[in-house]
Amino acid sequence: MSYDTSTKVESRRSAEPPLHGPEAFEGMRRAGRLTAEALDLLVDLVQPGVTTQALDEAVAHFARDHGAYSATLLYRGYRHSICTSINHVVCHGMPNDKPLREGDILNIDVTLLLDGWHGDSSRMYFVGDVPRKASRLCDVTYECLMRGIDAVRPGRTTNAIGAAIQSFAERERCSVVRDFCGHGLGRVFHDAPTILHYVEPNYDVPLKAGMLFTVEPMINLGKPQVKVLSDGWTAVTRDRSLSAQFEHTVGVTETGVEIFTLSPKGWHKPPYSLAP
Ligand code: MF3
Ligand code: CO
Ligand code: CO
Repeated sequence: MSYDTSTKVESRRSAEPPLHGPEAFEGMRRAGRLTAEALDLLVDLVQPGVTTQALDEAVAHFARDHGAYSATLLYRGYRHSICTSINHVVCHGMPNDKPLREGDILNIDVTLLLDGWHGDSSRMYFVGDVPRKASRLCDVTYECLMRGIDAVRPGRTTNAIGAAIQSFAERERCSVVRDFCGHGLGRVFHDAPTILHYVEPNYDVPLKAGMLFTVEPMINLGKPQVKVLSDGWTAVTRDRSLSAQFEHTVGVTETGVEIFTLSPKGWHKPPYSLAP
């Protein structure tokens, strides 16, 4: 009888970034697409008065209906299917029974595990009309994500991603969060390489075809410093300035990059138009 080690990979984060073949890319396409569909489903649901718990339940049902699991549920003691990070919350906000309020901006981060492969993606959402400075921050952050992804190709290094993100964010008088980063993934949720969203001369990994990772810049209107609340998860800006984040799962190809978590509906950044 053969022994399937693939059920135990989470504990085996590799030091060298693993290189994946066509079968992995196919699995990542399917997991990434389902994750993007979950984020699309939320566009309709984010409204004033709705609770983040209701959004959590919607994604939990969606995952179950499609033969997938939320990778965050029970991950290191986390008890929810999504992360919901509102206004000055930087990341890992936990769904609760407080209603969303007109003018809030929130990041919803979904990680679905489908047939052994992880899709990890997040977008910003507007609750009704939001202040101009909030929508500008979301625009800047989306642009940071896409500039970071555009920098990915074999022969470059991880600092090309950080440089593209940091230079644009700072030119727009915003700051890049240092305490959280992107990560390799595949059959494992958090793997090598670490993807920093700023330049770090002491950490620079060559990008090679077959690498799978996330790019997920967190950008603040104020200073970059964050603190984690006593619940052990919720990270907020120290100066209480607004924070935004977008995340895609990507793979390095022979010639460039493939994004696995693009919205099938073209809902890349808010405001999302519900018109057909
Ligand atoms: N999805 C997050 C990421 O981008 C991780 C969330 S872990 C949780 O890496 F436990 F907070 F859900
Ligand atoms: Co991630
Ligand atoms: Co994520």
